[in-house]
Amino acid sequence: MKSTLGCMLFILFMRNVFAAPSMTGEQIFKRQCASCHSQNANDTNIPILFGQEQRYIVKALNKFKADERTDHILGSMKSMAMHLSDDDINAIAKYVSTKDICSVKQNIDTKKEGFIEAFRAGRAIEKKINCQHCHGSFHRGAPRFYGQRKRFLKLTLHAFQGGRRDFPIMKRVTSQLSNEDIENLSTYINAMVLMRDCK
Ligand code: HEC
Ligand code: HEC
Repeated sequence: MKSTLGCMLFILFMRNVFAAPSMTGEQIFKRQCASCHSQNANDTNIPILFGQEQRYIVKALNKFKADERTDHILGSMKSMAMHLSDDDINAIAKYVSTKDICSVKQNIDTKKEGFIEAFRAGRAIEKKINCQHCHGSFHRGAPRFYGQRKRFLKLTLHAFQGGRRDFPIMKRVTSQLSNEDIENLSTYINAMVLMRDCK
């Protein structure tokens, strides 16, 4: 009797270890991704995924997996993506795309000296090049970029320009930008989130 019970408990234990029910996108995200991607810290250079176009998240994860994009910031994304199945990727992409970018707190200091000038200059370049033509509507697979962290935007635009992030369209776009243009564009695009009605 005792050994039957012991045996049953053992089987239950092993089932939990090996046949844990598959996790939802939210569970995977909270366990494996949120520590980096949902930090409320202001000065991080890790991109925010909340509110991102679902198809872009799927595309980006598959690119990391296939070595078509290198994580040039922390170098961790290939190993994170490698362990995700297609179902996991779809579930995570669905989850993050339905969350609100405003739920990640950023203290954008609009009173900082030079902010208004940088914002205006950034807006003028954005209008001239018409970044929104692609980034406002997933045209050519361009991600939503407003409200993205300033440090990530800046690093990324420099990486496109220098070829560390290899993407021909963005290499062409950034080849016409000075360091100051990149600084101003990053200020403006990050602050575009303020034009949203964040609660
Ligand atoms: C150790 C920190 C860290 C962890 C953990 C992490 N990421 Fe990342 N992730 C990054 C960094 C840094 C980048 C930016 C890399 C670059 O642009 O070169 C990134 C980029 C991405 C991108 C592309 C975003 C964009 O705007 O282009 C996606 C999608 C992504 N991660 C999904 C995930 C998922 C899903 C998980 C969990 C399974 C995860 N990440 C875990 C640090 C992390
Ligand atoms: C002709 C279309 C097009 C135009 C115009 C364009 N982009 Fe892009 N951009 C893309 C595409 C497509 C990607 C996705 C690259 C990838 O899949 O890795 C991208 C990626 C980016 C990223 C990386 C975002 C992330 O989350 O990883 C940034 C930042 C960016 N573009 C900024 C800009 C800025 C600023 C401008 C204007 C000065 C601009 N883009 C103009 C198509 C465009």
